Amino acid sequence: MNRTTMRETEPDRPALIFTPEVKADSPRVLAELRARGPVQRVRLGNGLAAWAVLSYEEARAALTHPDLRHDPTPSEKALEAVGYTVHKPGHGVGGSMLQLDPPDHTRLRRLVAPAFSPRRTRLLTERVHEITAGLLDAMAPRGEADLVEAFTAPLPVTVICELLGIPAADRDSFRRWTGDFLGLPSDRQRAAGLSLNGYVAELVERKLAEPADDLLSDLTLQSSTQDGRLSRAELIGTAVLLVIAGHDTTVNLIGNAMVALFRAPHQADLLRARPELVEQAVEEFLRLDSSVEASTLRFAANDLELAGVRIRRGDVVAVYLGQASRDAPQAEGTDPAVLDVTRPGPRHVAFGHGIHHCLGAPLARMEASVAIGALLRRFPDLRLAVPLDDLCWIPVGMMRGPLELPVRFT
Ligand code: HEM
Repeated sequence: MNRTTMRETEPDRPALIFTPEVKADSPRVLAELRARGPVQRVRLGNGLAAWAVLSYEEARAALTHPDLRHDPTPSEKALEAVGYTVHKPGHGVGGSMLQLDPPDHTRLRRLVAPAFSPRRTRLLTERVHEITAGLLDAMAPRGEADLVEAFTAPLPVTVICELLGIPAADRDSFRRWTGDFLGLPSDRQRAAGLSLNGYVAELVERKLAEPADDLLSDLTLQSSTQDGRLSRAELIGTAVLLVIAGHDTTVNLIGNAMVALFRAPHQADLLRARPELVEQAVEEFLRLDSSVEASTLRFAANDLELAGVRIRRGDVVAVYLGQASRDAPQAEGTDPAVLDVTRPGPRHVAFGHGIHHCLGAPLARMEASVAIGALLRRFPDLRLAVPLDDLCWIPVGMMRGPLELPVRFT
């Protein structure tokens, strides 16, 4: 399709995406959209008009384009019209590195990065095995469970809360607020954003008074002692980002992986027979159906071109990481919708690309490998207790995953 046709035909008939109907079957719906071209005009679930980037090369180009930025100034009017507040400091992850451009992004990322290095992550592996074993022990006598409630959710939540030093008693509130925060712009979403910030602000005060051996205490100390390196608002935004980014993403990666294995039981058998494949399999789960379907929004600071499509200053761009990953080179010549745990990897954009590439990727990979490996080993006859088509999916927003996973096992 040439540039003129794209520009003249698509904006009048944008595909409406990320509504609950689409979310139940989004990989297929988005694949149809991708077949029409790698960059398409869409209207997001909240009504915001945007350019959807749907293929691998274009996704990487968009995520490193110097004119596609997080600074929302050129797009402010369009954002206000749909009540979009996610980028504002004081609202959840607003003011965190995820919503900032350099040089502020660079400064904040450098402060937190050491805590998530591959070396530091390896030190956590033993504890992740312990938490996993404890959750599986609790499930074992029951013979049936909702795998989300009993396993895929509590594992990453416990890990990130222990890392940050969030008291166990507060973890349920965090999970509820995160769920609401990742929904559509609404009073509930705004309230959840404010609750998250309010809670973390209070926790920071407690860490100041009584520092402990945890990441939040370390960051709090840096913000109070190293003038100008990390303001209080930045500290709070960073902590909220780590909690949100550090749990629902991994919960749903593990959940989607299990759905893929229930859909293709011979692949689960293969993984049981060859457990050494589990890390490679996690790359395949990330490629096939990861939890973060789309990047955070980017805003065009100047006119630019992407895949021959003219994007104007102030236009909004969302990169569909899930679709782009299915288009990644290692799937070439095969059906990208088919799970193959022996596929060579890891080429996908499930963790994003460029300067905002997921800081928690080593942790997410390790948690998913431990969790999936242990689950398959512990319950060799683990099966879904409902038909695959009856599963309910997260109905709105950028996150993809099953709301519940009723399973049986002996
Ligand atoms: C950024 C995905 C787990 C922390 C990102 C981005 C993606 C992503 C796609 C880039 C967003 C963008 O460019 O708009 C995932 C997935 C995960 C996961 C699929 C699990 C399966 C984690 C974990 C943590 C974490 C466990 C650790 C606490 C972060 C942070 C950023 C980020 C701090 C912001 C980086 C920056 O702005 O420089 N993640 N993530 N993530 N992720 Fe993850």
